[in-house]
Amino acid sequence: MFLWRLRLYRIRTASNASRLNKQIPVYHKEDHTATIYLDNNATTRAADEVIEAMQPFFADAYGNPSSIHRFGGLVKKHIDRAREQVAALLGAKPQEILFTGCGSESDNIAIQGFCREKARTARLVTSAVEHPAVRNCCRAMADAGATLHEIGVDSQGLLAMDHLERLPLDANTLATIMWANNETGVLFPISEAAEIVKSRGGLFHTDAVQAVGKIPIDCRKVPVDMLSLSGHKLHAPKGIGALYIREKTKLQPLVYGGHQEHGIRPGTENVAYIVALGKACELAQKNMDVEHVRVRALRDRLEQGLLSTCTGAKLNGHPALRLPNTTNISFEFIEGESILLLLDENDIAASSGSACTTGSLEPSHVIQAMGIPYTLAHGSIRFSLSVYTTDADIDAVLACLPGIVDRLRKISPYVKE
Ligand SMILES: Cc1ncc(COP(=O)(O)O)c(C=O)c1O
Repeated sequence: MFLWRLRLYRIRTASNASRLNKQIPVYHKEDHTATIYLDNNATTRAADEVIEAMQPFFADAYGNPSSIHRFGGLVKKHIDRAREQVAALLGAKPQEILFTGCGSESDNIAIQGFCREKARTARLVTSAVEHPAVRNCCRAMADAGATLHEIGVDSQGLLAMDHLERLPLDANTLATIMWANNETGVLFPISEAAEIVKSRGGLFHTDAVQAVGKIPIDCRKVPVDMLSLSGHKLHAPKGIGALYIREKTKLQPLVYGGHQEHGIRPGTENVAYIVALGKACELAQKNMDVEHVRVRALRDRLEQGLLSTCTGAKLNGHPALRLPNTTNISFEFIEGESILLLLDENDIAASSGSACTTGSLEPSHVIQAMGIPYTLAHGSIRFSLSVYTTDADIDAVLACLPGIVDRLRKISPYVKE
């Protein structure tokens, strides 16, 4: 064990030292294309069309949308247009879209806004695999007096629907259950879950940050009351999100101020970023069908290639009920962080399901909730593709990762010589 830690430490320090000896790089467009970026569930590159659409609002179009003069009026029209573009992607009405600063803020406005409305009678229902934006918010609300129920998942990451049905749901309930998991890509049956909660008088919020732009969503058909999204997951920049709030849903604001965003999220609007989100939603809608067939095919080729060439490789998550862009694979007896470091040295960016805390590599709460065995849980790697992923990117990963896995397995203390 000690030898293994030492070797990992050496790989890390060597890699850090070589980084420190270099200047901190400023990435130019050419560098971006040199790096194979397969971490799109963490964040995406802003689309050129999106960056272009933002430009006037950093220069001539600087009016405050609340002003009645022409500077304000012009800018307001662009915010209205962006609201329509976001609404169109979700099958919502423009007045049901509230602009926020990010996905985490959208989640918090929904959950905390509901709890403030219900005071100490609030009952929250959530899943064991939510993003910290929902998980930590629900736990904080429970500390403040709300009742909290957490629903588990099975070994493929699917939601325990029978548990949801058995819960005491009522008009004081808000269920907040994610649409697509950020680590495994597994999709939850949001329509069925929302129907169960709503038939007993409760409200339903879904964190759809990873789903929006990747799969079709239609709020006219799926009875959710609130839905969170984040711009930087769908080729808009960081710093803009939105919350869909079905008409007549009652929430209390977290921040008090003026009339903007129905008084639920007051403050002068972040115009350039709102315009960016609108454009990104328009592009996502346009690209959804054609691009996502291509992205799914690339993901499947990567996955099948790795599962067939790397010994001890296993897929985490349901093979079919998944986002088209995500695959999460465990490499038995190897620590995911070591794989990531060696991939990074080969100009490949991916992500692991482990968090390095207090010197130990703890598997993520998602992988743990699925009951993945210890020797696999530590070696989980997430690859997340986007519309910018190419065939050549996948070829490069398939060419180098099996060698990395062999090399690391040879020094693994878990494998008997
Ligand atoms: C499922 C999910 N929810 C919420 C968030 C938070 O979004 P943001 O980074 O915009 O706050 C993320 C980001 O990774 C996510 O994956």
